[in-house]
Amino acid sequence: MAKETLTIIDNRTGKTYEIPIEQGTIRAMELRRIKVSEGDFGLMSYDPALMNTASCKSRITFIDGDRGILLYRGYPIEQLAEHSNYLEVAYLLIYGELPTRSQYEKWCHDITHHTIIHENIKKFMDGFRYDAHPMGMLLSTVGALSTFYPEAKDIFNPEVRELQIRRLIAKMPTIAAFSYRHAMGLPYVYPDNDLSYAGNFLNMMFKMTELKYKPNPAIERAIDILFILHADHEQNCSTNAMRSVGSSLPDPYSATAAAIAALYGPLHGGANEEVLRMLMEIGSKDRIPEYIKRVKAGEFRLMGFGHRVYKAYDPRAKIIKKIAHEVFEVTGKNPLLDIALELERIALEDDYFVKRRLYPNVDFYSGLIYQSMGLPPSMFTVLFAIARTAGWLAQWNEMLLDEERKIVRPRQIYIGPEKRDFIPLEQRS
Ligand code: ACO
Repeated sequence: MAKETLTIIDNRTGKTYEIPIEQGTIRAMELRRIKVSEGDFGLMSYDPALMNTASCKSRITFIDGDRGILLYRGYPIEQLAEHSNYLEVAYLLIYGELPTRSQYEKWCHDITHHTIIHENIKKFMDGFRYDAHPMGMLLSTVGALSTFYPEAKDIFNPEVRELQIRRLIAKMPTIAAFSYRHAMGLPYVYPDNDLSYAGNFLNMMFKMTELKYKPNPAIERAIDILFILHADHEQNCSTNAMRSVGSSLPDPYSATAAAIAALYGPLHGGANEEVLRMLMEIGSKDRIPEYIKRVKAGEFRLMGFGHRVYKAYDPRAKIIKKIAHEVFEVTGKNPLLDIALELERIALEDDYFVKRRLYPNVDFYSGLIYQSMGLPPSMFTVLFAIARTAGWLAQWNEMLLDEERKIVRPRQIYIGPEKRDFIPLEQRS
């Protein structure tokens, strides 16, 4: 039987090294044995953007990017989207198994009863400028929660961790909705415990003067499915931020604020906002070929296309495309849909995109749905953040309990100047 090892010959010294292969991986630290002299630091691997580096072992989410497969704890995303709901999926991600009925009821009860935020947080949010971006408000308010729950620092106490997990999942929609209401100049709406997680979010977003807000069931279900689809995605940029910041052992609010900041960028969660701007800029189907030409010339990227991991159709994008039609039956068709469909059709036939295996990702259609529901583009990434909180917390929990956990501290290849003497200001030319 073939040996599960890698033999390396260092041509600088002629020495041979045998390195174990475990789960298709070598340990980078094994490379440090490879030295030219006793005093040598040892060989390192260079991997900017961590394109080929596994930074942890995880049991949470599996992705096969070539075949377009996404599993949460082994369950296919398609089955979860069809049969489950966001809170059940959040439980699954965090605890590893689907809940029993009593576990599920307790979980939903706990989350529902932690949705209220401290009145001072409300005041804190009032201090933002009238036009503050809701993602900026969300990330700073979640960071500020750390000051309201100082006991959260006791992260190795399982009960304390459980409580913060519930608080965070419960309060994210409240903070998100308050950010929106602030930007709209509308009074904040308090949570309604009679409603589902998604229904309550819609209530806090859209309730006006009616005594009781009744979410449209199709919209409520669509939001819930969108939350499921965004709940986790293994070691992406924001999850890496959560684990990396979490590895220095701050409270989970601080680590989650870092993850939200990572999600904010247009190459990550900010992409769906950009997709909508792009579709509006294109404006009509006849302008698509010209736009694609400019993308191919490298002027800008086709937003909502391409993925670091998926080199096939993103399975989430397929589900979202289907929900889009269901939502449009209630809201009326989004006029940008035709442009999106045509853009997708043209791109998927174009050699540039085919060769690079660029397919629509999760963000391509989600913005259209959100817009039809009456959400401004600045809220799109906020919805992503609400959903991803369960995944971030599952990954944070797993990281804390990992026996190989250490503070994250990458190496570098220094290419700056050699040691040199300081030159006083008057002697510098
Ligand atoms: N439009 C046009 N060309 C693209 C696109 C795109 N959207 N994405 C990648 N390419 C091209 C690159 O120019 C490059 O071409 P080259 O080999 O000729 O230089 C090639 O495809 C590979 O691109 P990389 O940048 O190496 O791919 P990477 O894995 O680093 O990037 C990313 C992935 C950031 C998602 C990229 O595809 C992108 O910028 N997409 C648009 C933004 C987007 O939709 N982001 C959302 C991602 S999903 C999420 O975060 C939830």
